[in-house]
Amino acid sequence: MTTENKEKNISRSTDSGPIEQSNVSQGFMCDEFSAPLFLPWQLNSACNLACLHCCEQAGASMANEMTREEAFDFCRQAAELDVPYMAISGGEPMLCPHIFDVCDFIRDNNISLKIETNGEHIDEQAAKKLAKLNLRSVQVSLDGATAATHEKLRVGGNWEKAVTACKLLVKYGVKTEIVFVPVKFNIHETAAVVDLAYSLGVYGFYSGKTMRIGRAAQNWDSLCPSDEQYDQFYNVLKEKESEYKGKMKVFCYPHDVIDELKYRLKSPSADLLVLPNGKVKLINSLPFICGDLKKQSLSQIWENYKKAWKNPEVIEFTKDVIATPNLLAQANSWIEI
Ligand SMILES: C[S@@+](CC[C@H](N)C(=O)[O-])C[C@H]1O[C@@H](n2cnc3c(N)ncnc32)[C@H](O)[C@@H]1O
Repeated sequence: MTTENKEKNISRSTDSGPIEQSNVSQGFMCDEFSAPLFLPWQLNSACNLACLHCCEQAGASMANEMTREEAFDFCRQAAELDVPYMAISGGEPMLCPHIFDVCDFIRDNNISLKIETNGEHIDEQAAKKLAKLNLRSVQVSLDGATAATHEKLRVGGNWEKAVTACKLLVKYGVKTEIVFVPVKFNIHETAAVVDLAYSLGVYGFYSGKTMRIGRAAQNWDSLCPSDEQYDQFYNVLKEKESEYKGKMKVFCYPHDVIDELKYRLKSPSADLLVLPNGKVKLINSLPFICGDLKKQSLSQIWENYKKAWKNPEVIEFTKDVIATPNLLAQANSWIEI
């Protein structure tokens, strides 16, 4: 695939958010792809924070995480399969000793790349290095307009450092996006955090409902905003979208994980979620593992993925989750299929 074709696929697969993204694979259209269009990759599980909502339950390293060599082997396969787009997350990916080497390799192979970070390890030098990578974007998490709210959700976090990271990234010309996750005690700051994002000069502000996965599932009653709070949140973001039109992209994903699962049953997206240990999940909200990069090739896993969405066990469990959303709490209790 040429770089130009890759870029076309990227914009089809990601520009308008996950629901539009899956239109690419409408009616199991993913069957027609010989490789995924998108590889979200949790590079590591280590994190300096213990966020109350963390869907990955990150903190300590996972047993048997992919080595540097295994990580490179995975990237090599992604390049050989002409995967157009990857996103590196964690854990906190900036804590991984080989993050820059891996990113260099991905970019040298013309794969578009986004990095998701809490920003706390982005100093002047890191921002310069990230700028050299010519990334699709760096996404910084900012969960409050004030240190108090951000740090209440992001336990052990430092709001000032996240804000400084945004300033440094913007200073060095990195396309920077802010992601805000609304919970009961920060949602009232939505308008203020959008305004803050604009004052920092970032390219985009993204938000959407908190997913009931991982630690968010464990802390659901104290985190999940009320319907009234969500109504107000959507209204605020609609207003902010018009206010900043042409100046900063404001995007709010309108569906929750249950809506998404209903849609995925009919139309699985053309992506594979890669965990730090090389295991590959069908989707973050389900427990199913459809492959292991330590044992199988990426193309084999892609074939497993396509079959897995037709597996009666997966279909039945997904329907059960849709009917009983508290089953989302099982998302990180992996089931190999
Ligand atoms: C899992 S974090 C990993 C990257 C990095 N350590 C960070 O804090 O941004 C990636 C993004 O997922 C978001 N996230 C984590 N748990 C979530 C949940 N339950 N619902 C929605 N977003 C969540 C985080 O706020 C962050 O923006």
